[in-house]
Amino acid sequence: ATNRTFTMIKPDGVENGHIGAILEKITASGFRIVALKKTQMTKADAESFYAVHNERPFFGELVEFMTRGPIVAAILEKENAVADFRTLIGATNPADAAEGTIRQLYATSMGENAVHGSDSDENAAIEGAFHFSGREMF
Ligand code: CMP
Repeated sequence: ATNRTFTMIKPDGVENGHIGAILEKITASGFRIVALKKTQMTKADAESFYAVHNERPFFGELVEFMTRGPIVAAILEKENAVADFRTLIGATNPADAAEGTIRQLYATSMGENAVHGSDSDENAAIEGAFHFSGREMF
């Protein structure tokens, strides 16, 4: 069925000038952009968005990284969106990411890995609603 996922181009992807290339790869791969904006997360935003990771040793580093500059947030729609988008972005660690994936092409490290992709339909809905109101979705 057609469903939705949520993505962010993370601060490293924005800083390194990859917004256009990443959005092109996303749309060329058949995803329709439902919502899109450039924004910056506050510390409270990042702590809440990544609350599932708050016991992890890298949590502080993750919050610091995700708030250091603007991101591009988007809701994407496609058949099998969550799983297909995770295939398109590649493994969390760019060193393990398959050839041609967004992380293999544009990420620099495990922590600074260029893009986020939701891991389930449920989280896609939660994460999309975190960043967008209904009036921003088309
Ligand atoms: P993502 O899967 O999008 O969301 C959680 C993020 O935590 C992950 O991307 C990485 O950016 C970060 N992360 C996961 N594991 C590590 C790690 N071992 N060290 C630093 N950052 C990590």
